[in-house]
Amino acid sequence: MGEPPPNLAARLRAHGQQHLLAGWAALDASERERLVEQLAGVDFAELERLYRRRSEPHAALPSRDRIAPVPVEPRTAASIALGEAAIRAGEVAVLLVAGGQATRLGTDRPKGVYPVGPVSGASLFQIHAEKVLALRRRYSANIPFLVMTSPATHDETIEFFNKNRFFGLPSDSVTFFQQGTMPALDLATGRLLLEEPGRLCLSPNGHGGCLTALADSGLLTKLKADGIRHLFYFQVDNPLVRVADPAFVGRHIETGSEVSSKVVAKTDPAEKVGVLGLVDGRCSILEYSDLPHAMANERATDGGLVFRAGSPAIHLFALDFLERITTGPTRLDFHLAKKKVNCLDDAGKPFAPTVENALKFELFIFDALPLADRWIVMEVRREDEFAPLKNATGADSPATVHKLLVDRVARWLESAGVTVPRANGESKFPLEISPLYAIDEEELRGKIRSRMNITEPVLLR
Ligand code: UD1
Repeated sequence: MGEPPPNLAARLRAHGQQHLLAGWAALDASERERLVEQLAGVDFAELERLYRRRSEPHAALPSRDRIAPVPVEPRTAASIALGEAAIRAGEVAVLLVAGGQATRLGTDRPKGVYPVGPVSGASLFQIHAEKVLALRRRYSANIPFLVMTSPATHDETIEFFNKNRFFGLPSDSVTFFQQGTMPALDLATGRLLLEEPGRLCLSPNGHGGCLTALADSGLLTKLKADGIRHLFYFQVDNPLVRVADPAFVGRHIETGSEVSSKVVAKTDPAEKVGVLGLVDGRCSILEYSDLPHAMANERATDGGLVFRAGSPAIHLFALDFLERITTGPTRLDFHLAKKKVNCLDDAGKPFAPTVENALKFELFIFDALPLADRWIVMEVRREDEFAPLKNATGADSPATVHKLLVDRVARWLESAGVTVPRANGESKFPLEISPLYAIDEEELRGKIRSRMNITEPVLLR
């Protein structure tokens, strides 16, 4: 490839992006090929439309009078049989979004490889995979496990599953698929940024990218053909998640819900979780970065926060609904974020900005919520189902996750009649139960028959 393809040069000129070919002469053949391929995937008209939105206020929330707290229902076992029947019939698939890197934890590896098992050091991926395996065994069912990765996590994630023999899952029941990417734009000019000569600054298109990726790859159609009717969605960073909780699945089916969401009570107004609310009567997430201080602090007559339906990012989607919102004109729209992005300057030299210099674009899965005509919100106990791993220290860190995991095992053991030695209210020893031993408290109760004497760390598996 000597000269740039003429149609490419014309296309770039038409959109004022001809600077992208400025370094062409110095690129070798494979770099040229990569650049042409990257540019083929860029929708310049879409980027121009998004760039025009750059001055919109960050918090695009409607006025307060259009927003109300969302009605929630408690988790009960009432509909469990329906959920179990659906799982047994092979109608439920599980989707894990794992495109993020553990940057805030100080590594650039996929977050799923992070060890969190309090005794075993099991990774997040292992814990999630074992929950799926335990469900498969309990219900003798096929449960497709879909893992969404990004270009930054894809190869290492697959390698990790391979190395660990898919944690016991049949390898053909696990599907890895990559989310899309979006170019970063120069904030001042709208021009695409280059990371290095011939390479665009691309970043993952947000967890909402899973919907487009599922639809465009044909996976959605395949799931439907295989008889899947409901898709359970969760994030890689929460080892307490109750994967495909039958009570949740059952209630979702019973109510004919298109999207069902779990929530946990938010008590600290500053906690970094989105909250579910009604916007113009439709179920929506008010993202923590958008929620005005006054609303985050509003109190109800009982003293609790008005907007307290905190989102652990656990949803259940009807497959028909996903089909509807990925095929019509109702696709999700991008959120804009101003960020500092290392790039090349006009002279082609590396540039490390000290202030925000770039616009990045992400799709958020929860923008699908208001598109649903029928939905439910189920409140669960935070200590039972939510232990997010986000930061290296402080809130939502390995230390808080460890404590929450051990606390839950201690409660389960005590409810099974075991005495857990405690000091200052906390278990004296690290405790861990593999999902393959028991996925819930009831299962554990059925297994602990003899007296257990805890004098050292305990791992039940
Ligand atoms: C997110 C939610 C917040 C929720 C909280 C619960 C957003 C914007 N906010 O916050 O409402 O209360 O989780 O813990 O998501 N991911 C991808 N691809 C991407 C981006 C993210 O797969 O392009 C995955 C990550 O691997 C992770 C998850 O999405 O599993 C959440 O991303 P993160 O950036 O940690 O979200 P938070 O801001 O913590």
